[in-house]
Amino acid sequence: MIALSDRFEFLCEIENEAGTAKLARTLAETAEPGALLLLSGELGTGKTTLVKHLAAAFGIDPNAVRSPTFTLVHEYRDGRLPLVHMDVYRLEGPDDFEGIGGYEYLDHNEGLIVIEWGETVLDALDPDWLQLRLELVPEGSEVARRVWATSEGPGGTAWLARLRSRLGENLL
Ligand SMILES: Nc1ncnc2c1ncn2[C@@H]1O[C@H](COP(=O)(O)OP(=O)(O)O)[C@@H](O)[C@H]1O
Ligand SMILES: [Mg+2]
Repeated sequence: MIALSDRFEFLCEIENEAGTAKLARTLAETAEPGALLLLSGELGTGKTTLVKHLAAAFGIDPNAVRSPTFTLVHEYRDGRLPLVHMDVYRLEGPDDFEGIGGYEYLDHNEGLIVIEWGETVLDALDPDWLQLRLELVPEGSEVARRVWATSEGPGGTAWLARLRSRLGENLL
């Protein structure tokens, strides 16, 4: 079972995919090398789409970004910062994470690592990360999303503070 932290606080509401792009740009501008971002939320809430826009913000071709559901890890080294994109939905836990080389990537993180369904391997991670949870806005638009955030550790917490202050108003 996936246990979601109850410490999430509202970050912003996204009105459409342009809002997702704006969130991604702000994440890219506020990330420091070695950052770890965990993305949570049901299938179809826009985790992979956010990573595509993050890639674009780093100068990586967003069309190269594919859902890593089958290959589990994709690495993009031609951007402003190296980007590693993982999807650990199918993993049972920390042992499987080792099997996909997860710890190697974390140990050599010179850019940004993004883990979809990161809560699956939370216990395996150094406690220093930013976690975003996406959810469809229950009623109304099919494109609007609400984003909730929590963090752990000094790097993750400082990143969240920078993100909040850069986002300013909460409607993207
Ligand atoms: N505001 C939005 N932000 C992100 N994706 C959106 C938005 N509105 C609609 N979509 C669509 O929703 C789908 C999200 O899928 P995806 O990013 O693969 O989700 P996940 O990785 O969470 O399963 C995509 O088809 C995307 O085009
Ligand atoms: Mg996905």
